[in-house]
Formats: sequence, C-alpha cells, structure tokens
Amino acid sequence: MYISKFSQLGARAVKNFIEAPLASTSRVLHLPLDQNRYLLPLMQKSFTTAADNAFEEPNEEKQKISVTFVDNDGEEKNIKVPVGMSMLEAAHENDVELEGACEGSLACSTCHVIVMDVDYYNKLEDPTDEENDMLDLAFGLSETSRLGCQIIANPDIDGIRLAIPAATRNFAADGYKPKPH
Ligand code: FES
Repeated sequence: MYISKFSQLGARAVKNFIEAPLASTSRVLHLPLDQNRYLLPLMQKSFTTAADNAFEEPNEEKQKISVTFVDNDGEEKNIKVPVGMSMLEAAHENDVELEGACEGSLACSTCHVIVMDVDYYNKLEDPTDEENDMLDLAFGLSETSRLGCQIIANPDIDGIRLAIPAATRNFAADGYKPKPH
C-alpha cells in the first residue's frame, strides 16, 4: 500500500514537472507581441541580426581599388579593379594593352609591368620562384618589375600605378623554337 501511495505521489510530481513549463510557455505565447517580455528580446535580436547583415553586405564601391596603367607613350588609364582580380584580367577587361600570352599560368613574361612607386612594390606579396624565373626573361627588367597576372587587387595597393614596358618577350611571336635535347 505504501509503495502504491509513493508511486502515485511520484507520478504526480513527474506530471507537474512536465506540465508546469508547458503551461507557462503557452501563457507566454498568448501574450500580445508588444507586451511579451519573453519573445520581444528574441524578436529584437533577430531584427538586429538582419540589420547587421545588411550593413555587412559588401559595398561594391568599397571593394574596388584604383589602378593606373601608364603605357609606353606616357598615356595614363585609370580603372577601378575589384578586390581579388589580377592586374592582367583588369587590363584585359578595360582595353589596356597588356599582353598576357599564357593567360596567367606563369609560362611567359608578356604581362610584365613595372610598379612605379617602390612603396607600393613593397606592399605586394613576394614573387614566387616561378614568377622570378619568368621575370628573368622579361625585357627591360627593373627593380620593381612584376608579372601583371600575379598582382592581385587588394585594399593595400589602392592607387597603384603600373608602367607597361615598351617591349615584351613572347616566345611564340618572336619565332622562338625550343631546341631538341
Ligand atoms: Fe604569362 Fe603572366 S600572362 S606569366
């Protein structure tokens, strides 16, 4: 008999334990939204998050940098280049005459450019060995020479000026034929 009494008490306690939060939750859910002190912070949080995200949306103007190409005649062309785009791609998209025979696969030196300001040159990532090997073959190599396909637009180099050398070495156009070993 005691056992059955205890088990009845136990069952009631468990029932109360489960139902109490549900009852209070349903009361909470039935309050008008503007008076609901439980749901209001959650709603405000979700609105705030949405608004924050809107501010985090990339602003297109902010994501572009200014680049000036200077050709052999001293003529300048200023363009806006999206962050992440190579100078070779940017040149081709804007009708700047920078050759790029191998389309950025580091197998030529026809995208050779000279960074006109050493401060900007120093902001660039160091050239890889492959880039240096190709630069060694470029005409008119200078202390601040780089391959245009390896310079990637980033906010640090906003305002960079790149001179396009008078001549490029294009093995195919120059009639170079590799000698058999
Ligand atoms: Fe050939 Fe840059 S396009 S190395």
